[in-house]
Amino acid sequence: MTDKERYLDELQHFLRIPSISTDPAHQPDIACAAVFLRDKLKRAGLRNAGLIEGCGNPLVYAEWLDAPGKPTLLLYGHYDVQPPDPLDEWISPPFEPTIRGENIYARGAADDKGLTLILINAVEKLLHQHGRLPVNVKFLIEGEEESGGRHIEEYVAAKPERIRADAAIISDTEMFAPELPTICVGLRGIVYGELHVEGAEQDLHSGVYGGAAPNPIQAIAEILCALKDRDGHIHIPGLYDRVQPPSEDERCAWAKLPFDVEEYRTKEVKVRALTGEPEVTLFERLWARPTLEVHGIRGGFTGEGAKTVIAARAVAKLSMRLVADQRPDEAVSQLEAALKDVCPRGVAAEFRTLHSAPPSLVSTDSRYIRAAAIAMTEVFGNETVYTRSGGSIPIVGLFDRYLGIPSVMMGFGLPDDNLHSPNEKLFLPNFYRGIDAVARYLELLG
Ligand code: BES
Ligand code: MN
Ligand code: MN
Repeated sequence: MTDKERYLDELQHFLRIPSISTDPAHQPDIACAAVFLRDKLKRAGLRNAGLIEGCGNPLVYAEWLDAPGKPTLLLYGHYDVQPPDPLDEWISPPFEPTIRGENIYARGAADDKGLTLILINAVEKLLHQHGRLPVNVKFLIEGEEESGGRHIEEYVAAKPERIRADAAIISDTEMFAPELPTICVGLRGIVYGELHVEGAEQDLHSGVYGGAAPNPIQAIAEILCALKDRDGHIHIPGLYDRVQPPSEDERCAWAKLPFDVEEYRTKEVKVRALTGEPEVTLFERLWARPTLEVHGIRGGFTGEGAKTVIAARAVAKLSMRLVADQRPDEAVSQLEAALKDVCPRGVAAEFRTLHSAPPSLVSTDSRYIRAAAIAMTEVFGNETVYTRSGGSIPIVGLFDRYLGIPSVMMGFGLPDDNLHSPNEKLFLPNFYRGIDAVARYLELLG
């Protein structure tokens, strides 16, 4: 078997494990995915490969520290995946990796199993070739990224010495376009929670009491409309105060990215119209502005047929995406204050945070970022671009806060990889080129 065949074989094995962190029923699969990675790291030639168990899903750790005087890099990925539903929209089953054309389809292919294996394979390749590495490396791979789990934060806060490094390398982002090597320098943060709204003590007959009784589901609708208008402006006092506008240089760089809005609207997002703040450009809306979204509303009667009732309570799942220099705790306080102002008469509304993560923005003026751009340009044959992303990777802000190190986000996914959606896939040529790019990067740093 050639190396490439073996990489693919291992990827398929990893993708068959349904390691869904949001669903407790999949705990055995979480354990299985962690063990798979530990064994892979051992086989790759890393030392002290093991699981860090305590509370939560195990962290996977491994190291190779025999390059005195050379930089130490902390390599991060996550082995947990999102739930695969809706199942009937998958062309091939989510945990039976299937190759069609140059893509491999499976939940986790791009987010983040394929990209995590790119990092390990790059190190393995160098160790097999030379018997040693040009730099020191520490792997820290988690299994709670997709569920907003906080155990990695506890670990990083408690044991900063053990994972001390000069920079972190994270492969959990996308390239701006196929063939266009991309380093992501900014991510949004997030506050995710539930809005609990309570009206009467119990459900009421809607004919007998309609006209007098408050309706919590209607209240949620009114609250949402008051908090965000039709132009996408969020009416939470103070929320925009810390928002840093992108620099002139960054705006210019974004304007030069190869991009067709109509194609984006019709082929990637597939919507009738793009929405959001009309006076703000698209990339700024996606990468440098906060959002307020409702993800689901539970309450009242949703069964077959008709039932005339005014529900006593309702819950909405909400999130805010945050950008530099917003702070999650402050954003929650601002939301709570705004809720007090807009809550309709007769109901009580309470926001309960489920998880949060700070936004991050790294300076391109770092040797770790520049070397990554050079390595990616060499391997992909095109100039590397710097972009941001609207998504969140909680650990990036935490590495900055607890270790004071920059994160180099070398992503190898593509915009049409269907992350978190049916038919998630990974473009296999990027899998192999990613391995070469990361290996080249480590050589350059050494
Ligand atoms: N890898 C993604 C984030 C991402 C996607 C970054 C695309 C850049 C481009 C990550 O796994 C993710 O989905 N994060 C969650 C975080 C949340 C659950 C705390 C997100 O952004 O919703
Ligand atoms: Mn991810
Ligand atoms: Mn994800």
